Amino acid sequence: MSFDPKAATKIPPKKVTFRIKRFNPEEDREWWEDYEVETYRGMTVLDALLKIKEEIDHTIVMRYSCRMGVCGSCGMTINGMPRLACQTQVAEVASDGKPVVTVEPLKNHPVMRDLLTDFTKFFDKHRRVKPYLLRKDVNERETGDYEYEMLPEEHYNIYEYTLCIACGLCYSACPVVASTDRFLGPQALAYVWRYVADPRDEAWKERLEMIDTEEGPFSCHYAASCSAVCPKMVDPGAAIQRLRSALIKYRLGLYKKRISKKVGPMEERKPRKDLPPEAKPVDGVDPWAKDQEPVKIPVEKLI
Ligand code: SF4
Ligand code: FES
Repeated sequence: MSFDPKAATKIPPKKVTFRIKRFNPEEDREWWEDYEVETYRGMTVLDALLKIKEEIDHTIVMRYSCRMGVCGSCGMTINGMPRLACQTQVAEVASDGKPVVTVEPLKNHPVMRDLLTDFTKFFDKHRRVKPYLLRKDVNERETGDYEYEMLPEEHYNIYEYTLCIACGLCYSACPVVASTDRFLGPQALAYVWRYVADPRDEAWKERLEMIDTEEGPFSCHYAASCSAVCPKMVDPGAAIQRLRSALIKYRLGLYKKRISKKVGPMEERKPRKDLPPEAKPVDGVDPWAKDQEPVKIPVEKLI
């Protein structure tokens, strides 16, 4: 779901009813509760929920942190769609003709209380696919002394997948996850593709073999709802199709991947060229200098 920056300029209805799905685990009881909120231009659904929590009902439980679409913790089902509450303008989801917004917990994640869901299984699957670079030489991996060359087009191939914030919206929208717990889900599989396609990763065979099961990409029905709801414009559906193609080629012995060369150790590399004088922000400051006392910049130069 693309983020619409113009939504913040729209004016929401003056008063909006937030219909929130509540759940009390002690009584094993769920119910809907309505709260009327006075809105303002630029108000997000998270702002409205916090207003309700502060001014009307302190007992509502939800998760949030950054309030700027970065941490991925405020995922909720808003008017039936998985969305980040902090990135959803009230004006996008409420109109004068229908000043009602329904807010429910994310689907496919167990509900702990009210809007708070349990991400344990989701992160277990995320961890299971080893979401980090693997090199055969473990020392090289641990010391971090080396750099690995990468072509711009190789970076372009994986760039969108590096934007994933693990918000779980795609997982919540996935009809296959809804029907079986065994499917790894769009987020974890997008991570597998991200590392299979990354020339710096040497564990592509192990990764492809690991997902060549019913947990893997062949269980996907290609509903593509994962890609439709992603707030970061990641396309997990496409990653799953690429993994399918890679797996078929791998089974036929046709899959090839370039492994990038390592460069380094870093201290043995030639010193970088000096920056041109116009690139230096303040006289006497060398941005490449290491272990140097911070330069005292006169206040008048900062203004
Ligand atoms: S792929 Fe998109 S929707 Fe899925 S977890 Fe990552 S950021 Fe969230
Ligand atoms: S609070 Fe961090 S993404 Fe919404």
